[in-house]
Amino acid sequence: MATKLWQKSFVPTDEIDRFTVGRDRELDVLLAESDVLGSLAHTQMLEHIGLLTSDELTAIHRELRSILADIRQGCFKIEDDVEDVHSEVELLLTRRLGDVGKKIHSGRSRNDQVLVDLKLWTRRQLRDIVELVKTLADTLLAQSEAYKDILMPGYTHLQVAMPSSFGLWLGAYAESLADDMLFLQAAYRMVNRNPLGSAAGYGSSFPIDRQMTTALLGFESMNYNVVYAQMGRGKTERNVAFALATVAGTMAKLAFDACLFNSQNFAFLKLPDDCTTGSSIMPHKKNPDVFELIRAKCNKLQALPQQVTLIMNNLPSGYFRDLQIIKEVFLPAFEEMKDCLRMTNYIIERIQPNRQILDDTRYDLMFSVEEVNRRAADGVPFRDAYRQVGLEIEAGAFRPQKEIHHTHAGSIGNLCNSEIAERLNQLLQGFPFQQVEDAEKKLCEG
Ligand code: ARG
Repeated sequence: MATKLWQKSFVPTDEIDRFTVGRDRELDVLLAESDVLGSLAHTQMLEHIGLLTSDELTAIHRELRSILADIRQGCFKIEDDVEDVHSEVELLLTRRLGDVGKKIHSGRSRNDQVLVDLKLWTRRQLRDIVELVKTLADTLLAQSEAYKDILMPGYTHLQVAMPSSFGLWLGAYAESLADDMLFLQAAYRMVNRNPLGSAAGYGSSFPIDRQMTTALLGFESMNYNVVYAQMGRGKTERNVAFALATVAGTMAKLAFDACLFNSQNFAFLKLPDDCTTGSSIMPHKKNPDVFELIRAKCNKLQALPQQVTLIMNNLPSGYFRDLQIIKEVFLPAFEEMKDCLRMTNYIIERIQPNRQILDDTRYDLMFSVEEVNRRAADGVPFRDAYRQVGLEIEAGAFRPQKEIHHTHAGSIGNLCNSEIAERLNQLLQGFPFQQVEDAEKKLCEG
């Protein structure tokens, strides 16, 4: 039977153990590195306030760093009779150091341990996401510039509407990602506050130095109020999920556009052959499965805020075991998001626009507004010009003039891609990645 950190005179049955541990033994492994980081900071602080001697701290840090090396090499696992990552790390220390290992839990609880683990882990994941979003936005902007002179039909109601261009289409998604970056930044800043020291959710009678652990872990500041720090569990995940969902919304729309435009009936673009899959029966097929899977995964990701909300909905303040279940939907979401971002970037880099689309007469009518505007510019009142052209179309007499001159900001001839790039760059500067990296490195290397 399992030994628990909290074990006293009775033991839970194996069935109860299986049910309460749930998927922690598998999922908590993802948090292991963060758990050790939290312990490195916490123990350094314990020594500072006199709850560990400097020799004890040296021994603890030596062993924590050796556990960290094992984790990084992929040789860390949570043993079958151990509840979670927090118990496993403490057990390893106690096996190696005896009583000294048992001292590291002074002034904290697994409740603030899991809080800090999730914050450190999510902070790292968000950095990856931000960097991948930036890469994709840069690719979209580069391709937008490369293909800015190739016109394509624009649609409303899926009816041919007005001239658009590849430059406009690709740049739109870059600007969408720039707005999504605002959500990522808000989420990052909320994550980048230190909950450690809130212990079970009500602080501790030890004179712990929370400012010190905040600085050691590279957090921007702490979650001051210990009750609020605990309330951040679930709230943080939900808000991060909203940021992921807004990126996913952009990606799902892009994926659908690309599938549609790649269809033979549209043939606006060709996806690279190596990004399509074949059919077991139809020898001619080149299916856009990659973008279809991106679309589905990104639609699924947009359910994440709701999933988190429903798990934590109506909980009062204070810790509840309900919160453990959030990890099951939250942790795997990041790999999926990153996969989708990498795949999309790969395809967009190789996408091949069709330069001949407008030779097809079915798109002639999208130049009707150009003609109306030309006449209006020559002095015909707009409504009269509109009617004249409308009647010509009805009589089959409309002949399109395909030379177009759109010059206002954000239009075909003036994409403002450098403004969009500038917005992205400015946002990126608002993430303190380097400070965080330096702090973590210092903690890990001593
Ligand atoms: N596995 C737990 C979780 O994710 C860790 C915290 C356990 N705390 C407790 N009071 N049972 O929430």
